[in-house]
Amino acid sequence: MKKAKVTVVGAGFVGATAAQRIVEKDLADVVLIDIVEGLPQGKALDMMESAPVEEFSSKILGTNRYEDTAGSDVIVITAGLARKPGMSRDDLLFKNAEIVGGIVDACAKHSPDAVIVMVTNPLDVMTWLAQKRSGFPAERVIGMAGELDSARYAYFISEKLGCKPGDVKAMVLGGHGDQMVPVPQETKVKGKPITKLLDTPAIETINQRTRDGGAEIVKLLKTGSAYYAPSSSAVKMVRAILKNTGETIPSCVYLKGSYGLADVYCGVPAKIGRGGVQKIVEISLTGQERQELHRSAEDVRQNFQKLKI
Ligand code: LAC
Repeated sequence: MKKAKVTVVGAGFVGATAAQRIVEKDLADVVLIDIVEGLPQGKALDMMESAPVEEFSSKILGTNRYEDTAGSDVIVITAGLARKPGMSRDDLLFKNAEIVGGIVDACAKHSPDAVIVMVTNPLDVMTWLAQKRSGFPAERVIGMAGELDSARYAYFISEKLGCKPGDVKAMVLGGHGDQMVPVPQETKVKGKPITKLLDTPAIETINQRTRDGGAEIVKLLKTGSAYYAPSSSAVKMVRAILKNTGETIPSCVYLKGSYGLADVYCGVPAKIGRGGVQKIVEISLTGQERQELHRSAEDVRQNFQKLKI
């Protein structure tokens, strides 16, 4: 079988760590592309030199030329400016729209059949922009955020309960912003909803820490933004696509009526496999959660409209 090919755009911390996780898991050969000369080449060579130790057989090519990305199965876009302390994800809107727009044009030209996984912030707006610019069917343009927010939620819950992080299956919906919507009754430890394990104030504290999860890391790092958990979450989506697992992953997807939302990109659970989104999964929400989800989607819409596309 032909080895899968994944392009990772942006050789910064998120991109390079995603590339590393993909080759170490032997999911695909990777093309790591960046505008900075030498950066992707240096990181790719360094990773290849780890292959005899890590014993992976996937290859990674570092390049500045989009021709090298041709025929990719999946394109992960991480390029753009990262937040500085005190900045919101939306502060990045205009600058990153310019960067991402050009990248999408080049990627779509060379890999017309690829699935795009957006990682650049503000995530939901960038995902929508990528769909418009590429002209790809919406199923093939998805954003990574819900999995990251859910992973953070799961980790905080495991810390509080003293259980294994992997035993927590968490669910966070909505846009990747201050209005994301943690869903406690769909967040379970070995099948038991956390609403039966923690009291409401404890859950609310964890919900808020989850909403602030990205900012907490930005504040600690002082320069740059999180990348270990973001790259893990992006690679989980890449794996689902390449292996056609059809697993349910909270993802930023185009909605056509599910959850009462239409013509907007927003985070909801979706079955992800070959070709991208295979099905949107509708879970039951409380009235308040549904309201919060709508508010969050409206926020995405308003920011997207600012781009005047
Ligand atoms: C975060 C940034 C990447 O949530 O949005 O860490």
